[in-house]
Amino acid sequence: MFSPGIEQLDEIIGKCEETLEILREHGMSPQMQKHIEREFSVAEAEAMVGRSRATLSRQEKDADRPVIPMKHPKSGRVRGYTLTQINELRDIFGTSPRRKNGQPCKVLSMQSFKGGVAKSVSTVYFAQYLAIRGYRVLVVDCDPQASATSSFGFIPDHAFTEEDTMIPYIDGKKDSIEYAIKNTYFPGIDLVPSCLPWYEVEFGLFNAVTHADTEEERLSYYQELRQAIRTVEVNYDIVLMDSPPALGMISINILSAADGVVVPTPPSMYDFASTTQYFKMVKRVVQSVAPEKRFDFIKVMPTKVERNKARQMDFLDIMRDRFGLSMLRSIFTSTSAIPNAASVYKTLYDLPKGERDNAIIDMLDEVFGEIEALIRKAWEDVA
Ligand SMILES: Nc1ncnc2c1ncn2[C@@H]1O[C@H](COP(=O)(O)OP(=O)(O)OP(=O)(O)O)[C@@H](O)[C@H]1O
Ligand SMILES: [Mg+2]
Repeated sequence: MFSPGIEQLDEIIGKCEETLEILREHGMSPQMQKHIEREFSVAEAEAMVGRSRATLSRQEKDADRPVIPMKHPKSGRVRGYTLTQINELRDIFGTSPRRKNGQPCKVLSMQSFKGGVAKSVSTVYFAQYLAIRGYRVLVVDCDPQASATSSFGFIPDHAFTEEDTMIPYIDGKKDSIEYAIKNTYFPGIDLVPSCLPWYEVEFGLFNAVTHADTEEERLSYYQELRQAIRTVEVNYDIVLMDSPPALGMISINILSAADGVVVPTPPSMYDFASTTQYFKMVKRVVQSVAPEKRFDFIKVMPTKVERNKARQMDFLDIMRDRFGLSMLRSIFTSTSAIPNAASVYKTLYDLPKGERDNAIIDMLDEVFGEIEALIRKAWEDVA
């Protein structure tokens, strides 16, 4: 009987690498598809900037800071504004939602131990939702699968090595994670990427904890990510960490770093059970590594909900009943539009107007608006 071994794995990896190379050579790599910046119509710009069409139009002729929208080359008619231009206008008119002096950068994670519950999709979409509203966002990819990194158009193990991840900081070779920050195609979103070697952080931190000489040193290994984020948070309003689907040192670090936690949970028995285990773990971890820790919020977010399936809707009722106020009111419904957009390296927020489904965008905006409000509430509590 044929039994595959290392040689066959080598052959498969070789074929995969070849395919990626061909995609890149033919300009089909995700990054190349990601350079077109979405434009916003004048009506959208009015709502986003909070100023009338007439005011925006006057700014075109402003001598100091003219903001000239994109126009049709022949007719000269206004086509729309880029997000960069809208942010410039928000700056000019003082309507940016960014945190004020004294309000701290907020660190969030969509976390759960269950695979495939939409942690990465929620992280990337929420980042885009926030950036469209004018926040400065940093996405920190903490998963060796690097889904978030890929969503921004990078082929992780081609674009990056461990030197581009937080590994040099964790190894003590760097004092800040500034070196690891990459701009993305999406204005307002920066990324600290991940790639396969990030796996080793899990073992490295575990090893460090088991060999720590003092309790203080041991506890410090659970705070590595929090410390890393502190070194750059001055430049951001919100930091989102994408979590791997497993309990381990990285997940505990994410929990220690988080001000707010959102637990994506599809309405099914298995996912509910997994979320229950997750909360038990959170309690145990917080008790043992950071008993004083306070979160701004911990919320269950129903994800991948199929509204036409009675059983799921019944289960949603059970979740609402059990979790009460610890659950978001909004529902992240299941839609094939999300994987479809991903297959052409896009998100629904990227799609041009004609291809965008407004009902789905409204659903997304409602879910993320509810989380945004929780963050804003935490800022108000500081003010
Ligand atoms: N609302 C949705 N409707 C339909 N498909 C979705 C939705 N949200 C996510 N998906 C799909 O579900 C799959 C898993 O999503 P995602 O990668 O975000 O999950 P994850 O929890 O991060 O997984 P992992 O545990 O592997 O990190 C992806 O194929 C994604 O396109
Ligand atoms: Mg993921």
